[in-house]
Amino acid sequence: MCCIVAYVVQREAYPILIYGLKRLEYRGYDSSGLSLLNGKLREFKRKGKVQDLVNFVKGKNVSGSMGIAHTRWATHGKPDDINAHPHQSGNGRLTLIHNGIIENYAALKTALLQEGHVFQSETDTEVLVHLIEELQTRSNLPLEEAVRVALTKVIGAYAIVVMDERDPGKLVAARKASPLVIGIGDGEFFLASDATPIVEHTQKVVYLNDEEIAVVTRDGELQIKDIGNEIKMPYIQQLDLKIESLGKGDYEHFMLKEIYEQPNTIADCMRGRINAAEGWIKLGGVDQVQERIAQSKRFIMAACGTSWHAALIGEYLFEELARIPVEVEYASELRYRNPIIDREDVVVALSQSGETADTMAALELAKEKGALIYGIVNNVGSSIARLTDAGSYIHAGPEIGVASTKAFTGQVTLLTMMAISLGYQRGTIPKSYYFQLLEELERIPGKVAKVLESDTQIRYIASEIKDANNALYLGRGYNFPIALEGALKLKEISYIHAEGYPAAEMKHGPIALIDENMPVVVIATNKSAYEKVVSNIQEVKARKGIVIAIVTEGDKIISSLADYSIAIPDTDEPLTPLLSVIPLQLLSYHIALMRGCNVDQPRNLAKSVTVE
Ligand code: G6P
Repeated sequence: MCCIVAYVVQREAYPILIYGLKRLEYRGYDSSGLSLLNGKLREFKRKGKVQDLVNFVKGKNVSGSMGIAHTRWATHGKPDDINAHPHQSGNGRLTLIHNGIIENYAALKTALLQEGHVFQSETDTEVLVHLIEELQTRSNLPLEEAVRVALTKVIGAYAIVVMDERDPGKLVAARKASPLVIGIGDGEFFLASDATPIVEHTQKVVYLNDEEIAVVTRDGELQIKDIGNEIKMPYIQQLDLKIESLGKGDYEHFMLKEIYEQPNTIADCMRGRINAAEGWIKLGGVDQVQERIAQSKRFIMAACGTSWHAALIGEYLFEELARIPVEVEYASELRYRNPIIDREDVVVALSQSGETADTMAALELAKEKGALIYGIVNNVGSSIARLTDAGSYIHAGPEIGVASTKAFTGQVTLLTMMAISLGYQRGTIPKSYYFQLLEELERIPGKVAKVLESDTQIRYIASEIKDANNALYLGRGYNFPIALEGALKLKEISYIHAEGYPAAEMKHGPIALIDENMPVVVIATNKSAYEKVVSNIQEVKARKGIVIAIVTEGDKIISSLADYSIAIPDTDEPLTPLLSVIPLQLLSYHIALMRGCNVDQPRNLAKSVTVE
């Protein structure tokens, strides 16, 4: 979604703001803008990427030691120069950036129009800055008080920063359901949607809580109040984020770097948590709530996008290994359908960003109903991580490519460890199988590295099918969610229409689409349903479909049937997804690249979806 970044006060703000926008551009990227204060407010806004803004600003006066900046992902109003943030008040005195949605903006706008306000843009955000202006001038309120009162009238989600030309000593920021981090430097402050633009300058941060308003001043003061006007003590934390992890390294794209990081990120996720030689798995989060988990009657997994696919694998793992009933829910559906959830449920939220609005809302609902809330999150300190009763970080490091890769395998690794551990504790898997799975899990990073060696072959296959308009992905059992994930990866970044299906369901619909132009990717590593998958491939071949099969090393039968086959190392079936997804990530990467698509920032998508 949108991202915000702001700076006060020691140095020139412009380079700091542009650097921050570039770091955060992955969150939303259809237009950008900034306001600088140096006696007078100066504003620059441009449709397109941050680089378009930089080109536009070239040669202009960008001096000033205070400023706010924004990249937008359009919700209300098309992406253009006028709808880009910041937005100014009618008197031109206030300027504001916003991430989120003001849901009651229409009613507020009608009231403000009656008061004589004139609006330039189609955005909900502009209504908020006019509302603050109205309160400030009508009641002669200081900026922070006008912001506070305005926010009591707002329904929706927001992270905002406001700057006032006539009150140049401060920035006022607030959040509700959209993230906001304040970096505390030496006599200077950095505000941003996440910590990635801050870590360069300082390790000390405060994560603002919902309905809190912060004032940072030129004099190095930070004050926090809540929307009810109660003073809050800032809780200062130390960032655990390495600046090197934010770059592309030697890779052409973040996505490729993140695909190649997976042997390490999977190992990092397991580090200190499993030891096959000694036969233990230890997840601190699970230990913390062990009793509640032992008493639970079912798990509900809630997530969106790629995280939802990881949850689906979680269902297969938990039900097979731990015999715990699992329901997997789209968070966006769960939150609005009055679900039956009670104290005996464990609700597991999976989220890379830890900020997805629908997942947050589903969790809040489950919390109200008394369920135990467990988070499986990548982004340390994120809103979902802070909302849960307990949880485990996946430790994949910052994921910048919009299409999720290493976060997915991190989530699956974590779910696999949980399922094996619970299975052993509950006596639903024999000791010998438990040891076998632990040993095999420790071998997975090496096996992922082996799969990555097929890159050249995968690039060749990509060149053969890159012009397709449609693609079908088929898998059974643990490979069914992988089929969904493979199809999602392809459509996200190459814009080829792709569908994932349980292989056997093909005959109930998608088979009608198969002809000589249709690539069909079959994830055919299963041991349990091998013959069935062979039959499915025969059915595709009989209709002249182009079969790309992901097979287990040494497989002769499917390899001889398929047009192309990619072999992955053998492993225990519950661990297969960690290997079988890798070729599909690479396939979509190469196809997107060959089609000239922007791999890291595909059109219309955003990394962190902080609106409904
Ligand atoms: C967006 C991203 C996806 C991600 C989904 C859920 O759609 O583009 O990559 O899977 O949100 O995000 P989360 O951060 O909750 O995992």
